[in-house]
Amino acid sequence: MTAIVVYESFWGNTAHVARAVAEGMGPGTPVLTTDEATAEALGSADLVVVGAPILGFSLTTANMRKSIAQDRKAPQAADLSHTPMREWLDDLPRGDGRYATFETGFTWSPGSSGRVIGRGLARAGYRVIAKPERFIVAGSYGPMRDGEIERARAWGAALARPALAG
Ligand SMILES: Cc1cc2nc3c(=O)[nH]c(=O)nc-3n(C[C@H](O)[C@H](O)[C@H](O)COP(=O)(O)O)c2cc1C
Repeated sequence: MTAIVVYESFWGNTAHVARAVAEGMGPGTPVLTTDEATAEALGSADLVVVGAPILGFSLTTANMRKSIAQDRKAPQAADLSHTPMREWLDDLPRGDGRYATFETGFTWSPGSSGRVIGRGLARAGYRVIAKPERFIVAGSYGPMRDGEIERARAWGAALARPALAG
């Protein structure tokens, strides 16, 4: 089985979770930004695991990107250098692999980014293998709550097991 992990991350929390998921899936599992997750990288993957933060109760919109570009409360500037996940999903070439999604955010928050990502992947032909998983932040800009990185590693390992078998 060939798996890749793809993520969007502005302050590094989702990137941190993505690396842990990939570690759990197995050594050498690539962790790619949306720019790195090209048609070629996707074409060779049987399992695509994709994650993004929840911002404004959903997957980040163009308006939210404008707003966080001007956010003066953030401890560090948001990294807006990569292709927006929404654009990446719109441009996704057709695929026949499997997928799972994850999101970072608060426990209490309604809305989801994982579900929006899942709809994009399903539209392109991918088949879901797990419910979207949420990993919890300790504050608006992170860091991840204690234990969440370990949980992400375990979730990655659990995803890889049935995929390896089937
Ligand atoms: C402007 C702003 C809006 C947010 N909106 C939500 C939200 O609606 N629901 C939620 O669960 N978390 C929300 N969060 C928390 C983010 O999901 C959390 O900080 C996330 O882990 C950031 O991921 P990143 O560091 O990978 O960019 C928000 C944070 C910010 C700064």
